This record gives sequence, C-alpha cells and structure tokens, in this order.
Amino acid sequence: MINNKNLKNLIQKIRSNKAVISVIGLGYVGLPLCLALTRAKFKVFGIDNNLERIKTLKNGSSYISTINSSLINEARNKKFRPTNNFKEILNSDIIIICVPTPIDKNKKPNMQYVRNVVSQIKKYVKKNQIIILECTSYPGTTEEFFLPIFKKKKLNIGRDIFLGYSPEREDPGNLKYTILKKNLSKVVSGYSKSCEKIVKELYQKVSNKVYICSDIKTAEFTKLLENIYRSVNIGLINELHNVCKKMKIDTFEALEAAKTKPFGFNAFYPGPGVGGHCIPVDPYYLTYKAEKHGIITKFIKLASQINDKRPVEISNTITKYIKKENIKKDILILGITYKKNSDDVRESPITKIHQTLSKQIKNKIYVCDPLVNKYGLKTLKNIKFISLKKLYNLKFLNSFEICFIGSNHDIFDYQAIAKNFKIIFDSRNSFKRKSKKIKII
Ligand SMILES: NC(=O)c1ccc[n+]([C@@H]2O[C@H](COP(=O)([O-])OP(=O)(O)OC[C@H]3O[C@@H](n4cnc5c(N)ncnc54)[C@H](O)[C@@H]3O)[C@@H](O)[C@H]2O)c1
Repeated sequence: MINNKNLKNLIQKIRSNKAVISVIGLGYVGLPLCLALTRAKFKVFGIDNNLERIKTLKNGSSYISTINSSLINEARNKKFRPTNNFKEILNSDIIIICVPTPIDKNKKPNMQYVRNVVSQIKKYVKKNQIIILECTSYPGTTEEFFLPIFKKKKLNIGRDIFLGYSPEREDPGNLKYTILKKNLSKVVSGYSKSCEKIVKELYQKVSNKVYICSDIKTAEFTKLLENIYRSVNIGLINELHNVCKKMKIDTFEALEAAKTKPFGFNAFYPGPGVGGHCIPVDPYYLTYKAEKHGIITKFIKLASQINDKRPVEISNTITKYIKKENIKKDILILGITYKKNSDDVRESPITKIHQTLSKQIKNKIYVCDPLVNKYGLKTLKNIKFISLKKLYNLKFLNSFEICFIGSNHDIFDYQAIAKNFKIIFDSRNSFKRKSKKIKII
C-alpha cells in the first residue's frame, strides 16, 4: 500500500511513462542511459556542460564510436532533448547524475565534477523530485553530497523529496550486455523505503532484473566490490603470467585447461595493464575511505601496483629486444585504446607504453587505431597515427620490422599482420596460430 501522496504521484508518473527525466553527464554511461530511457517512452533532458557534445547530439550524431548515430536520431525523433541548460531540472521529476569520478595525481578521489553538479542543480531542486547518483564513488558519497541540499531547503527526505543510488554497469563496446538491450541487471538503493520504491520502479523500465540493496552505502560498495574483484584478479594473472614466461609455460593454454573445471574458477587474462575510467581508478576510492576508518587495503593496493607496472615491463622487454638486435626500422603499435573494440583512450596502458618507448628508443613509433575518435585524438597530440589503409600497404610496411599489439580490435586483419611483420609482440594473445615470430609479452 502506498500512502504518501508525493510518492504515489511519482510512482504513477513512472508507471505511465509521464515522468520527465534529466540525465546530467552524457558520456559512456549517461548517453546510453538517455537512449534507453527515451526508448522506454520517457521525455529525457540530456544535460551536459560540453557544448560541442550537445551540438553533436542535436545534429543527430554520436561522439562515442560504440554508439551508432542512428540511435541518437531514433532518440531525437522521440523525446530526447540534449541541452546545456540546467534550468530544465525545474521541469523534471527525476534527476540522474553520471559525471566523472576520477582520481587526482596523489590517487585520491577527485570529486570536483560531483561538487560542480551539486552547485549547478541546487537552486532548481524542489519538492516531489528524486535525485539518483550513478557515479562510482566511495560509500557515503550520495548522502554526503545531496542530503545538505535537501536539509537547507527544509525538505523532508522520503516524504517531500527522494534520494537514490544505482551503480552503472555499462561496459562500452560490449554489445552482448547493455542497457540498450535491457539485459543489464541493475543494483538499486534508496535513502528510505519510499526512495527505494521509486528507484526500483524507474530501473525496472530499462532493466530485466533489479536487485534492491538495503541501503545506499551497500549499493555504492557493491560497485567497488565488482571492480576491485576485477583489478585484483587481473593483478594476480599478470603476476602469474610473468612466472609462466620465465618457466616457459603458455599462460593462455594453462587458462584454457583451468577453465574446464566446472566450479570455483573464473578466467582473467594477462594484458598490457589496466585502463579506462574504472579499473585503474575505482580501487583507490575504497582505499581512501578505508584509510579514514584506519584500515590499509594492502591487497587492493598491491594488485593496482602490479597492474600499473605492466606498461613499463612491456616497454622494457621491447626496448631490450630492439637494442640487442640493433633494429633501426620504425615500430608500429596496433590499437591504443584501453581495450578491444573500444574508442576509449582514458588511462590507456598503451599510451603509457608509447610514452616509455619514446624515451627509451630512437626508432620512430607509429600507431594505427581507427577506433580513436576526434576527442581521443585531441588528448594524444604527440602521437603519429597511420590509417588502416596504410597498414596494409606493403611498400609502406617495408619501413617497419616490429609490431606491438596493444588492443586487439576485430577490425584488424591478423593473418595479414602475421604475414607482413618480422617480429610481433602481442600483449593480448591475438593470433589463433602460434609462430616463432609472435612473442607473447
Ligand atoms: N566508462 C565506463 O565504462 C563506466 C562504467 C561504469 C561506471 N562508470 C562511472 O560512471 C560515471 C561517469 O563515467 P563516464 O565514463 O560516463 O564519464 P565520461 O567522461 O564519459 O562522461 C562524463 C560527461 O559528464 C560531463 N560533465 C562533466 N561535468 C559536468 C557538469 N558539471 N555538468 C554537466 N555535465 C558534466 C562531461 O562533459 C562528459 O560528457 C563515473 O563515475 C564512472 O566511474 C563508468
């Protein structure tokens, strides 16, 4: 039985798709969420302070390679309204926040984006609204940043105004599980039972499965748990990979063998290190908060250190080979984004490998990565890129001897690469057929 009038109204608006939603921050997380909510028949204001992004969306185009422009057009023809005008919050029932939560140079949480949003929205927040944070952050963030706004306005939380948290699981480039296919289960939480009810009702519209956490802190922690689990296991397999290489054991074959165990084993793969906005960043959010409680997260820190060391280890191996073999020709790096089939270069370990190699060797280094978009290119100004067309031009390839596989995008022709390069350093186990010239690194 729902007996709070404001709660009842909001639930009714969600059920009848009449609720108006503002999503703040239209990046890898916020943009697909806008599209999914529009598909679910809601009117959605997509608010971003990046004017270029708003203009692109208004023109029906996408700036994320894994999101097709046809999807933006589809949403624009429905009720998706990109804008930089925060005033639209006055016309919204639901406000969802998806801005960045990076770390600073001391590896501490950088909350400036969340703080900016708080100051931009506080004058528009009013009775009968719900605010939902989707950013990954330390337990306690949602209440720490949003309760003060409500208290200042003397709004009773859970009766006049509502607060929730739902961690994001969007995995850019993952076409199998995405909010756009409605098959990405969502963890939800609310400040009170009424808040929880609204958050659950909303996410049921875009997700096949909604799991309710009993409080916001647990939901915030869940996201960190998922990503720390990945970071620690990647750290472990990166360490084991170094052991395997010394012992002349094929790590990937051992993994295939271990995977035949029907329980108790999940495969993680060695690679060039971790990148993107999650795995290199999120563990430090928990470490920061744990330290406030007097706990040093030794295990978590160690995994991050092992992963962070990979780019230098890889650069050292390639440099050693180049010097030993006295190689004078140019070096080609294939794929610079942080993972396969993604356009995201944030925190990419391959950019770190490029940087380290540039300091260690005199050979010219070129990169081929057709997935990097104009926004990514702006952040990689010192890198010399070559096109995919040039990659398969034999005359041009004559100036190269070594190829390093950074990100193994499906777009590359691995047979042609195996044929045309003398030596290939592969950090991703990209080739089906093994050969002496392919060195797993
Ligand atoms: N990228 C991922 O794969 C992923 C996955 C799960 C969770 N997350 C989390 O989701 C959150 C968002 O990450 P993202 O990858 O989408 O970030 P992003 O950098 O791709 O996008 C953030 C957007 O927010 C905008 N923005 C920044 N400050 C703003 C402000 N004050 N007002 C309006 N817009 C503002 C930026 O212009 C940008 O368009 C982070 O907390 C991240 O940890 C990310």
